[in-house]
Amino acid sequence: MSDPIQQPPAKTGVRTQRSKRTRTLILVSLICGALVVALTTGLVLHFRNKTNEEVQHRQDVIVDCLPELRRQPEKMENSETQCQFKGCLWRRQADEGAPWCYYPSNHGYRTTGNIQASTTGYRVGLQQMDATAVEDNSFSHLDVEVTRQTTNRLRIKISPKDKYRFEVSPDALNIEKSSDLFVNETSAAYKITFTESPFGIAVTRKDSGVVVLNTSLPGLVLSDQFLQMSVRISNENLFGFGEHRHQSIRHDMRWKRWSMFTRDSGPNSDWNLYGHQPVYMNVEDDGKANMLLLKNSNAMEVVLQPHPEPAITYKTTGGVLDFYLFLGDSPKHVVSLYQQAVGLPMFPPYWSLGYHLCRWGYEDINDMRSVILRNRAAEIPYDGQWGDFDTFIKAFVFTYDKTKWKNFPALVDDLRANGQHFITILDPGIGVDENVTREVQSIYPEYDVFGSGETLGVFVRNADNGTLLGEVWPGVTAYPDFTNPETQDWWTRWIRFYIEHVGVKVDALWIDMNEPTSFARGSIEGCRRNKWNFPPYVPDVDGSRADGALFDKTICMDGQQYWGRHYDVHSLYAHSMAMQTYRALESVYPGKRPWVMTRSSYAGTGRFATKWQGDNRATWDDMHYSIISLMEFNMFGFPMNGADICGFWLNTTFELCVRWHQLGAFYPFSRNHNGRGDDNSYKFRHQDPASFGQTFVDLVKPALMTRYRFLPYLYTLLYDAHTEGASVFQPLFFEFPGDSQAMNIDQQFMLGPAFLVTPVLKQGARSVTGYFPDGLWYDYLTGETTKPGTRTLVTPLEKFNLHVRAGHVIPWQEPDVGELIITPEIQGLASRLKFDTLEIFGLDFLPSWLKVNDIQVPTANISLVHRNVVQCTGLGLPMTSSSTIAWSSY
Ligand SMILES: *[C@@H]1O[C@H](CO)[C@@H](O)[C@H](O)[C@H]1NC(C)=O
Ligand SMILES: *[C@@H]1O[C@H](CO)[C@@H](O)[C@H](O)[C@H]1NC(C)=O
Ligand SMILES: *[C@@H]1O[C@H](CO)[C@@H](O)[C@H](O)[C@H]1NC(C)=O
Ligand SMILES: *[C@@H]1O[C@H](CO)[C@@H](O)[C@H](O)[C@H]1NC(C)=O
Ligand SMILES: *[C@@H]1O[C@H](CO)[C@@H](O)[C@H](O)[C@H]1NC(C)=O
Ligand SMILES: *[C@@H]1O[C@H](CO)[C@@H](O)[C@H](O)[C@H]1NC(C)=O
Repeated sequence: MSDPIQQPPAKTGVRTQRSKRTRTLILVSLICGALVVALTTGLVLHFRNKTNEEVQHRQDVIVDCLPELRRQPEKMENSETQCQFKGCLWRRQADEGAPWCYYPSNHGYRTTGNIQASTTGYRVGLQQMDATAVEDNSFSHLDVEVTRQTTNRLRIKISPKDKYRFEVSPDALNIEKSSDLFVNETSAAYKITFTESPFGIAVTRKDSGVVVLNTSLPGLVLSDQFLQMSVRISNENLFGFGEHRHQSIRHDMRWKRWSMFTRDSGPNSDWNLYGHQPVYMNVEDDGKANMLLLKNSNAMEVVLQPHPEPAITYKTTGGVLDFYLFLGDSPKHVVSLYQQAVGLPMFPPYWSLGYHLCRWGYEDINDMRSVILRNRAAEIPYDGQWGDFDTFIKAFVFTYDKTKWKNFPALVDDLRANGQHFITILDPGIGVDENVTREVQSIYPEYDVFGSGETLGVFVRNADNGTLLGEVWPGVTAYPDFTNPETQDWWTRWIRFYIEHVGVKVDALWIDMNEPTSFARGSIEGCRRNKWNFPPYVPDVDGSRADGALFDKTICMDGQQYWGRHYDVHSLYAHSMAMQTYRALESVYPGKRPWVMTRSSYAGTGRFATKWQGDNRATWDDMHYSIISLMEFNMFGFPMNGADICGFWLNTTFELCVRWHQLGAFYPFSRNHNGRGDDNSYKFRHQDPASFGQTFVDLVKPALMTRYRFLPYLYTLLYDAHTEGASVFQPLFFEFPGDSQAMNIDQQFMLGPAFLVTPVLKQGARSVTGYFPDGLWYDYLTGETTKPGTRTLVTPLEKFNLHVRAGHVIPWQEPDVGELIITPEIQGLASRLKFDTLEIFGLDFLPSWLKVNDIQVPTANISLVHRNVVQCTGLGLPMTSSSTIAWSSY
């Protein structure tokens, strides 16, 4: 079960009071006054052909006019005629990867008349310029609506005039204009200017004068199934877009192309992965930051271009161009503005912050039970046990296999009796096989998930209005249409059936395969050849290599859903499933905070679900990339996030698994998750800590115990994210936006404002080099101080590097060593949520007195634990209010 709804924990945990008589030795970290970011990118010029022809050094933004050649750069040589036929310009480019065929400057749209100003913004009519003969079927007239939504948020919407177009349903994502009438030209933080021909909009910050974006570029195209627009951005400090396996946190701008379209694909390629997050962050030269969301759910791609004139070209396959620009004072500020707009992240129950074990491929109940028992015996702190579809009858949801998983509900009850929790997987694909249904019905006569859904008409329909049938683990499957409000009661009913009738008392739900996946391409009958299944332009998405199919590994694009055609709403499938699953749990466990974890996501899904990184692999590189993915999804509004500790695919190793625990103990969501094996004959070894023996347990337990100790801190950070919007697992530059060196760091991370983690990410390494930004840093394990700069840290296998930043007081909790679970939850009492221990880093003597909320703490409760660190124990401070700590200077 989930937590009862609780009072919020104290905002910052503990406040430090200063007065003349008290002195805090906490060193205030210096924030760099001069926020100057050096642009470090030197442009490397590659000359393809220096001999006879003229090679161009690009001076301005150029937009590819023959994107169909993107995978055959060798054909660029011979594309001149084709290019001229399209009315575009052809030049050899010095820049490797730059298009040789690009739009002329008179391509696009121009304004038709006056730009109409209103109290909230502007309305502009556009018409195609004569030179624009290049795109077939593009709309001749467009409407542009520019709305000042708040003083630091602006919406720019471009759509064809007088034409119905698909738009993301407000039920999915509704970013409303502030009701404040005074968001006007004077009060807004930005200035909007227009270029008439070709049409473009520029947004300038009033305070710094930085042009945050400028769309006055050739290549604006709006046609039925191809929409394109480019934006010039302020510099090359670009972050975000997802979901991908990015190999660096800061984007490589050199003509990289990233596609977005939800897809069942693990983070081991450069293709589009599970989530669709069409949003970036640009950190301006002075450390201020802006974010731009394209609210569009169609298959799309972005193409980046480097210095000079860094820019992004968007190409999407439907809907409208609906941009939201957020202007923040800093990266952290803009993240909070963004999350407030798309929906603040859900607040998970406290127990979810514990350590979890999961595997796909437990043989049977005895296998899972022995994992539970051996980790209990090894005294591994451990709050959640997860089950994949192994426990189901032939992968049919809401069942369990009474032979291999005999008395499974009793095992779940036993977990609960021990204060632990059970979480099950829940795939959307509903098995239709009537023989299996009959087999289940011989045990549960009421079981009729597919039949009841058919009767109610809740499944995604195919082009002929029949139920679309694909294939997932249960064999042939139907897909609930979670965008249909009618689906909610049906879905809630079967979740309740599983918990109350089948008797598996799950505490949370893990929704997977919700891109959605189909092993049959499109459907068991394939897909028709029509404009949705085979659109004229297919972005560079995975699967498109074969035959241009968007439906590869998913369902047909001409499927019909309540919110629209699957072509338009594909990337919203998981979003809608998360919404209905969240509400189902609310209804099954009234008064408890639901916890849903999803693999696929769209912008704003963080309101309803947390996420994990998906099917990573047991490699050292994957461990590194997990840090980048977590940082990005924290920006996107998914602070409670983690990667599979020790890796999902591949057989893990002892050393990798030790190091991954030392990293994963600091993931906001900490789960060791193992795959099954490549096939039945190749099973991966177990990778729960106890499976490796006592030496392993001794190596990883200190990191896990440290996690448990700082849970009040983590909980407070997640609460802040839930109430104000924030990232919890963050890149260093979020805390040090003026530090240009911090901008590129992605092998270390900050957990909240106070912890800096420097994990070992290389096999055999017994030291690691890390960067320490301005301030003073205390090694959590030794109390040793580290000064700013690049430092090499000796890190034998038993050591992990957690540094505490001077100037921060961190609430701790002593884990209940007897139980090794999060105690407040079993008691179910909000008032039990306390922090007991407080450590003051940087205090190198025992103060003669120390007061908490004006009450003196007995000297017995205060000790110097390291040369630099004073610890107070037994405080029992409620997390539901702020406390004040003061101490003497002698
Ligand atoms: C613009 O907003 C400010 C408040 O921020 C208000 O004082 C001013 O009257 C408004 N101007 C107009 C033209 O409405
Ligand atoms: C935006 O770009 C256009 C085209 O280069 C330029 O004329 C205009 O001045 C720019 N706007 C701003 C505010 O820089
Ligand atoms: C169900 O069982 C019957 C009888 O054994 C068989 O003929 C039929 O093919 C089975 N159906 C499926 C979908 O496997
Ligand atoms: C399609 O099927 C649904 C559900 O069975 C039904 O409600 C609807 O009327 C059908 N639409 C058409 C056009 O036949
Ligand atoms: C996985 O690794 C373990 C030891 O690390 C080894 O015993 C086992 O054979 C490996 N499994 C496979 C299938 O290679
Ligand atoms: C001191 O510690 C003891 C035991 O740990 C605890 O019972 C007591 O409440 C603490 N006193 C204060 C004032 O925190």
